[in-house]
Amino acid sequence: MTTPPGFEADIKPLFRQRDRSAMLFMFDLWDHADVAANAADILAAIEGGDMPCDGAWPPERVELFRQWAQGGAQPLRSVRRRRPACRRRTRVPGRPS
Ligand code: HEM
Repeated sequence: MTTPPGFEADIKPLFRQRDRSAMLFMFDLWDHADVAANAADILAAIEGGDMPCDGAWPPERVELFRQWAQGGAQPLRSVRRRRPACRRRTRVPGRPS
């Protein structure tokens, strides 16, 4: 993946409705803030194959989650920071420059 993973596009779709419902007693797996706050524990659970308890994730899924967690648990895929689009100074009549 060229851009670092983001929660909405890459991580949230990994969690089934079933995962979310089962885990609501601890956190909401469809909520960025909750998953980010618990990312280290969640990573440990999926790495160890303990969760989801009805079948461990394949290694590439675990790896994707790890990249996301270690990349700062971003809400969105990162966009390259660009300069503000409008840099031209426009002289507005009547406004002091
Ligand atoms: C900090 C990480 C986690 C902890 C400590 C944790 C702990 C638990 C516990 C204590 C249960 C109840 C077990 C039972 O009823 O016997 C449970 C159920 C479940 N968890 Fe997690 N969990 C974690 C992360 C996850 C993640 C990331 C997923 C999905 C990817 C997940 C999917 C599930 C599912 C599907 C169940 C229901 C199992 C069933 O009743 O068949 N959990 N979890």
